[in-house]
This record gives sequence, C-alpha cells and structure tokens, in this order.
Amino acid sequence: MELLTLDELRERHSMKWTRYPADVLPLWVAEMDAVVAQPVIDAVMTVLTTGDTGYPGRDRLLQDAFVGFAWDRWGWQVPFSSVSVVPDVMHGIVEVLRASKAQRVAITSPVYPPFRAYPEQEGMDVVDVPLTDAGRLDIPALAAAFEHVDVMLLCNPHNPSGVAHTVEELTALLDAAHAHGVLIIADEIHGPLTSVRADTAAGGSVFTPVLTVPTEAAVVTVTSAAKGWHLAGFKAGVAVHNDAAAPLMANLASHVADGVGFVSMVAHAAAFREGRDWLSAVQRHIDEARDVFGEALGDLIPDAHLAPADATYLAWVDFRDVRTASGATLGQDPSEFFLKHARVAMNPGPSFGPGGAGFARVNLATRKDILVAAVTQMSEALARG
Ligand SMILES: Cc1ncc(COP(=O)(O)O)c(C=O)c1O
Repeated sequence: MELLTLDELRERHSMKWTRYPADVLPLWVAEMDAVVAQPVIDAVMTVLTTGDTGYPGRDRLLQDAFVGFAWDRWGWQVPFSSVSVVPDVMHGIVEVLRASKAQRVAITSPVYPPFRAYPEQEGMDVVDVPLTDAGRLDIPALAAAFEHVDVMLLCNPHNPSGVAHTVEELTALLDAAHAHGVLIIADEIHGPLTSVRADTAAGGSVFTPVLTVPTEAAVVTVTSAAKGWHLAGFKAGVAVHNDAAAPLMANLASHVADGVGFVSMVAHAAAFREGRDWLSAVQRHIDEARDVFGEALGDLIPDAHLAPADATYLAWVDFRDVRTASGATLGQDPSEFFLKHARVAMNPGPSFGPGGAGFARVNLATRKDILVAAVTQMSEALARG
C-alpha cells in the first residue's frame, strides 16, 4: 500500500483535496490517500488499452467476484441469483426504498448523513432511533419504532463510530423486524475494513454480514469495493437479498442495473478477486494510524476522547470536555473551531444527526505524519484560543 505525500495529494482533483484552501489539512470525506491496488490498475488498464470499454456483457463479472469474496472472507454463501448490480451503494439503497414504497424509514443517529437526507428527498418520513450512549443499536427502542415504520436503514459497520454490530444484536434486530414486517436495508460498504486487532480478538472477522444471520425478515444488503479499495470514483455496487425480499427486488426498475459502467465493474471485481493482500495492508495501516492518532491526542489534547473502533478508517472523536486556553468549550461543532483556527478539516459531528453535537469525524486513511501534524496544529490552536 503506497500512501502519497502532501505535495502529491495537493495535485489531486478529488473532493477531499479540493474543497478547502491549500493551507488546510483535509481529514474529512471517506477517501484514502493511497494509490489504488495494482490488480485493479492492471484490470482497468487491460480494458482501456484493448478498447474493451463498451456495455457490460452477460458474464456477471462483479456479482461473481463478490460471491467469491463473501465466501472466502466471511463464510457467507451468497446464492448467485440473489446478487444484482446497482449504480453505487447510496443509489442502490434509494432504488430499494423506492421499490419498497416505504413511507416511514428508521435510522440510527449519529449516522452517515445521506441516511436521513436521501429518504427525505424521496418524500419519506425519517424516524430517528438514536444509538445508545455506548454507541450500540437500541434494540427495545427500535422494536417499538418498528410498529410504525416500513424500513430500517442499517449501517454495518457503523459510520461514523466504526462499531460492528454483534450476532446477538443483529439477531434481536431481525426478530423485531420480522415481527413487524419491517424491511432491513443494510449498508455494508465498510465491512471489509475491519481492525486486525478486533478481528484477532473476535477469532475471525469482527464484522458479521447481516445476511449470515438466519431470519425470515426481508433483508437487502448493499455494498461495494468503493471504501475498502478506494474506488469511489468508479461508481458501482451490488445488492444482495434473501428470499423474503425477492418479490421486492423484482420491482427494481431495469435502469438500475443499467446504471453501472463496465469499467467500474471491472475495477470493483478486480478488488474483490485479487485485491486481498492490498486490503490486508490497509487494515494494518488503519490500526497503526488509529494508534498514532490516539497517542497524539492523548499527549496533546488529552481531554478529547477517541473510542476504539471495530472497523472503518474513520475516527469519531468526542471533544465535549476540551477547553481552549481561555476556558471556552468548542460548542456543538468542534470542526468549525479547528477549521478556522488550526486549518484542519474534519466532518462536523452535528451533520450525523442528534448525538453528533460536540463530536467530529476524522479520516485516518492517510500518512501518519499528516495525522500527527493535524493534532499538533489543533493543540496549538487550543493553546492560542
Ligand atoms: C456508510 C456509507 N455508505 C455509502 C457511502 C457512499 O458509497 P457510494 O459512493 O457507493 O454511494 C459511504 C461513503 O463514505 C459510506 O460511508
């Protein structure tokens, strides 16, 4: 895994590196500061240099690559016929929501902001069932909400906290969903990005794909290689459903599968099939980067709290106890203070919904020296403030 230098990164055209002025260290949107895995480069180069850049054929390249990956990594036996391609994860979720004709959708804040925004833009009512103070699914509250919602959007592993929901939690959730006829749409895009340490403690992958938990509830999982292999610029995804969700998936409009570009499929398929060593290197880097970032916070901003994460390269930081030299708190949105006074950009906690006040989300998929520089600038800003 090759991480780029600051000078190289500043040449990028992506959202992460162009949103803010050049004196800002961007630690926000979920992009990696890495070069793409060599097998992905090779696969894409092959189709480019041979002009094999037309419409997708019938060979189910991406679907089959995902089935192989899911089996090898999680022992998840995905029936070939239950996988379809979608334009990307969030479009896949929106299309499944549309097909479900849902009126009311449950989410668990603090959560990835489109989970609220996209259903609302579809005219649906969003019912927020916040995570517990420990960052876990509040199963009794969800069961109560399931009496009057049609769908729940499950983020597993959870963005922003990196919590991987346990088998017990998922079982209880699915029991409640089945009892009330609620469809579960699971976003598992961060599933490959588990912490090596957490995996070792769990004796296997700490992440449990929801569809490996037996259930009669209708479940659709939407995922892709976009986060695990830094392929957000290659829009593609897969949706996997169980039998109970099959009638719903038959309602998906045909333009959904037609919305995926062939070259994107090639990139994601190569990642799932041949990008496994690269993914292992990313996982190791994330553990190390989280340690380095946590140690820097501990040394320089000891009142900031970094919760351990099972997965994702995101860090969800609690700044509620942090004070500036003049004794001021950082308020609802600490990212505002740090952008203005430390020239470090993070995702604002409040954008993840209630429960995000006083927090910020930091992207650890970068060089360790950049993380240390960011924390140093942040502590200097606090000392001046
Ligand atoms: C939980 C989650 N889902 C979906 C996405 C976006 O995926 P896509 O670009 O495939 O819609 C992200 C991006 O950060 C994410 O964190």
